[in-house]
Order: sequence, then structure tokens, then C-alpha cells
Amino acid sequence: MLMVKSNNIEDTKDVAKKLARRILSDKTKRKSALVLALQGDLGSGKTTLTQSFAKALGVKEKITSPTFVLMKVYNLQLTTYSLRRFIHIDCYRLNSPEELEQLGFREILKDKDAIIIIEWAERVKKLLPKNTVWISFEYGDRQSERIIKFKTL
Ligand SMILES: Nc1ncnc2c1ncn2[C@@H]1O[C@H](COP(=O)(O)OP(=O)(O)OP(=O)(O)O)[C@@H](O)[C@H]1O
Ligand SMILES: [Mg+2]
Repeated sequence: MLMVKSNNIEDTKDVAKKLARRILSDKTKRKSALVLALQGDLGSGKTTLTQSFAKALGVKEKITSPTFVLMKVYNLQLTTYSLRRFIHIDCYRLNSPEELEQLGFREILKDKDAIIIIEWAERVKKLLPKNTVWISFEYGDRQSERIIKFKTL
């Protein structure tokens, strides 16, 4: 388990960039999509991290949380990496994991060229692969302090 203290938004953005760099530099061939599962209270920084992560992957569009549409797919134009799609899922308004399955989630998981970030991922835990990277966000003592914990990375 890796634990990082973020003192402000910039720190969280920095964590996102480092995470993206680390994933991009990992040349092991994947057989399925890579899933980053984010959990933590409202306003703890999940979308903030996702936005900077997407930017680091070269996504040009402004990333807004897909709370109502549940899922957004962004095509990646990375020339030197095989990563082709970035998928952002927000399960906040999800009533059951089956709702995500109905959107074709199991097929999406098979896409080895995709990276998937899921907010409120604990709500769909039973659908996620064993090698999912779990990232949890907690409030720290001060207002803009966040504790970010990485499991299995
Ligand atoms: N260290 C920090 N890291 C990230 N965000 C911070 C930090 N300090 C303050 N903030 C503020 O906290 C808020 C985080 O909001 P964000 O939308 O990223 O949270 P979230 O976890 O996605 O919430 P939700 O559960 O509603 O989706 C922002 O308003 C941001 O400015
Ligand atoms: Mg969010």
C-alpha cells in the first residue's frame, strides 16, 4: 500500500500525472482493460485526479464527471503507446451494478487498449477484475488536505 498526502489541488494533480506516466511507461502487454477504482467521500478529489490523469494521457476535451450519463469514452491519440481509449465512469447515481452491465461493461473490460477510471467504484466492486488498482481518498486534518492511498500498484 502506498500512501500520499496531498496538501492542495496541485499536489493531487501531480499524483495524477505521476500515475499516468507510470502506467504509460509500463510495457507489459495487457490481456484486458486496466481499471483504476476510485473511492472516497464527496468532494475528496476523485474527479480532480481523473481530470489531470486524462490530460496527461493527451485527452483534449474538458473532463466533467459523468454523473448523469454514467460513462464517457475518449479516444486517445498516443502514437508510441497501444492505449487507445480512456473511459471515465461515475457510479454515484447507480442503483445497482447491473445498470453498469447493461451499458456493456463486461465487453469494455475485455478491451486491452482501454484504461478505465471509475468513481464510487465500491458500488460495482463485484464486476471489477482482481488486478484492479484501488485508490482511496480521505480528508486530512486541514481543509485542503487529502490522503490518497494506493492498493496493488
Ligand atoms: N488536496 C486537494 N486535492 C483535491 N481537491 C481538493 C484538494 N483540496 C481542496 N480540494 C477541492 O475539493 C474538491 C474536490 O472535488 P472533486 O470533484 O474532485 O471530488 P470528487 O471526489 O470527485 O467528488 P464527488 O464524490 O462529488 O464526485 C474541489 O472543489 C477541489 O477544489
Ligand atoms: Mg467526482
